[in-house]
Amino acid sequence: MLSSILCLLVLSLAKGILGAPVRTNTSSCIVDPECGPIPGESALYSDDIGRSRPLPADMTAAVLPTTSGPAGEDDVLFQNLLSAEWTVFSFYQQGVETFNESSFTDLGLPNTTYQRITEIRDNEAGHLRIFQDSISPASLKPGPCSYDFMWEDAAGFLALQNIIEVSSMAFATALAQQAKANSTIGTLVAVGETESRHETWALIDVWNQDPFAGAVDTAYAYANQILYITSAGFTIPGSCPSANPIYPNPTQKLPQLAYNSSTSTGHPGSPITFIYKESRYTNTTPVPDYVDGEDYYAVFFHGVNNITVPFDTKTNSSTIPAAFDSKGIILAVIADTPGAPTLDSIVAGPLILLQQPSNGTSITGIA
Ligand SMILES: *[C@@H]1O[C@H](CO)[C@@H](O)[C@H](O)[C@H]1NC(C)=O
Ligand SMILES: *[C@@H]1O[C@H](CO)[C@@H](O)[C@H](O)[C@H]1NC(C)=O
Ligand SMILES: *[C@@H]1O[C@H](CO)[C@@H](O)[C@H](O)[C@H]1NC(C)=O
Ligand SMILES: *[C@@H]1O[C@H](CO)[C@@H](O)[C@H](O)[C@H]1NC(C)=O
Ligand SMILES: *[C@@H]1O[C@H](CO)[C@@H](O)[C@H](O)[C@H]1NC(C)=O
Ligand SMILES: *[C@@H]1O[C@H](CO)[C@@H](O)[C@H](O)[C@H]1NC(C)=O
Ligand SMILES: *[C@@H]1O[C@H](CO)[C@@H](O)[C@H](O)[C@H]1NC(C)=O
Ligand SMILES: *[C@@H]1O[C@H](CO)[C@@H](O)[C@H](O)[C@H]1NC(C)=O
Repeated sequence: MLSSILCLLVLSLAKGILGAPVRTNTSSCIVDPECGPIPGESALYSDDIGRSRPLPADMTAAVLPTTSGPAGEDDVLFQNLLSAEWTVFSFYQQGVETFNESSFTDLGLPNTTYQRITEIRDNEAGHLRIFQDSISPASLKPGPCSYDFMWEDAAGFLALQNIIEVSSMAFATALAQQAKANSTIGTLVAVGETESRHETWALIDVWNQDPFAGAVDTAYAYANQILYITSAGFTIPGSCPSANPIYPNPTQKLPQLAYNSSTSTGHPGSPITFIYKESRYTNTTPVPDYVDGEDYYAVFFHGVNNITVPFDTKTNSSTIPAAFDSKGIILAVIADTPGAPTLDSIVAGPLILLQQPSNGTSITGIA
């Protein structure tokens, strides 16, 4: 009774006075998908120009299960996705809090740039709400951690924005392959489309480049490996709500890859020397347990295909397949089997080689 009164109050406040989006606090009704502003219905998820954290990102804790019934069939998928979304949302929120219009016009960029960053932040807040609502009441809804994205200025922020968006698109294609419910696949495609619009905007307005990424963006099969890049790269250890499940769940904790950019362009046809990335917080550099006498391969994924190239574990060198077009992203892993046909065949990576903007860099080059 009390909760439905609260919900009515929140709903009526959300409509606002004079039609302007008005923030309300959904924390009191977050467990009810009908309560509070709804993505796709409320302008808050596109037009909120406030600098402080919009709902439902004002939450700091995990939301505990409210029933003991059986978990939803895609609950773990959406828990992983919600944890990823807290990372993506936090990236934009930090930008909104740090910059203003001049930060970007000073770089010669359009005077709408700051507003677009704010709008994307609002869209990402809507994704938080959608993923929270997609987790059944029998499962926990993970809360936000603290994140360090390591950009130093507005230009660094905009460079990393490409990586954040193409990574989001890649894990949406991968999570879609794990989904049990058909509606989950539809949700993931719709969210990936929104991230693709964000990236399209950046290519046109920020980078002044061709906005199209060729016939098809890259589909990758192993979502949690991409999610682990965000976790290992950006999440401050020990900063997550203690109730949160491990992220990603399950996790392989594979050695992370970078490449030597003084000997490779990162584009098709170029030689590439992989570098194992030092862990930011443990000062260790995880490397694969290579078995003497076994063959290893660099497997490059692009579009809906992959190409396998021999990999020399002594020189750590390979060649980026010349057959690929230099569009969107190329994703590289080290595997013990050509084609990396199973999760366990992969021993390091993935490394995201950003093709557009064409002078972009790898995720590890920035992060
Ligand atoms: C939202 O409500 C919760 C619980 O009443 C409160 O702790 C929190 O400070 C509120 N947040 C905002 C932004 O008003
Ligand atoms: C942005 O912030 C800077 C530094 O505080 C300030 O000088 C500038 O006037 C601000 N620009 C806008 C458009 O608010
Ligand atoms: C933004 O730029 C456009 C043209 O690029 C100009 O017409 C408009 O007046 C500018 N708006 C502001 C608020 O400076
Ligand atoms: C989901 O898709 C499959 C394959 O197209 C179909 O057989 C099944 O009926 C769909 N399920 C529902 C609940 O619509
Ligand atoms: C990258 O390659 C250059 C040229 O061979 C070499 O001098 C440098 O040490 C390499 N960097 C790393 C981190 O291996
Ligand atoms: C290649 O990687 C191995 C770890 O597997 C490392 O010990 C070695 O120094 C690397 N070699 C080069 C040339 O970078
Ligand atoms: C890579 O391509 C091969 C050959 O088409 C295929 O058998 C394999 O499953 C692909 N790998 C992945 C991870 O999709
Ligand atoms: C990237 O290339 C574009 C077009 O060549 C150029 O306008 C832009 O300044 C470059 N950006 C960086 C960060 O080098």
